[in-house]
Amino acid sequence: MTGLRIEAMAGRHIDAVIAIDAVSYSHQWSAAMWRSELAASGRRHMVVIDDDSVVAHAGTLQQLDELHVTTVATHPGHRGRGHATRLLVDLLRAGVASGAEAATLEVRAADRATHRVYGRLGFSPAGIRPGYYSAPTDDAVIMWLHDLSSSEAQSRIDRLATDIESREARA
Ligand SMILES: CC(C)(COP(=O)(O)OP(=O)(O)OC[C@H]1O[C@@H](n2cnc3c(N)ncnc32)[C@H](O)[C@@H]1OP(=O)(O)O)[C@@H](O)C(=O)NCCC(=O)NCCS
Repeated sequence: MTGLRIEAMAGRHIDAVIAIDAVSYSHQWSAAMWRSELAASGRRHMVVIDDDSVVAHAGTLQQLDELHVTTVATHPGHRGRGHATRLLVDLLRAGVASGAEAATLEVRAADRATHRVYGRLGFSPAGIRPGYYSAPTDDAVIMWLHDLSSSEAQSRIDRLATDIESREARA
């Protein structure tokens, strides 16, 4: 797709990211919280830019060999085009390159569509945090992707990346 690129999130993207979060989450980080997040160690945040507009973002926190997916959101008008998957592919690859051996995240129990996005990447449900989310109240499902650096996990991630590229080429 013409005009589509991924880059590291920087201060100039904060307002657009907050605007995406405002229509994606019940709670958002403020600009000050984003500035300190971007300056903190172990964090990696990426954005998808389509024709000069930020349309999706995702981020991770790496602690030793564990990668925690902290944020993923795509603007509602740009969902279903592979942006979240593409960001997660890049973040998982970057995590492996920095020594991550496993990745984890929490997702709303009711949010089946998001479970599918994570499931395709190899994340599996591993536990529940009751009442973790508010507005509306929901349990969190804790998901893990173990053996992140295994050849099986790498092949799965590579296949998804190829699939996204071929869908984009056809779009
Ligand atoms: C969850 C969320 C980030 C997904 O974003 P997205 O960019 O729409 O996700 P993707 O496009 O990668 O995947 C969604 C679907 O599009 C499909 N798709 C369409 N075109 C595609 C393409 N070109 N390449 C790859 N997948 C494509 C995927 O296969 C997937 O299909 P599915 O519905 O059968 O699972 C988005 O819905 C969102 O922002 N939700 C609100 C915030 C939130 O809940 N975040 C998660 C917190 S845990």
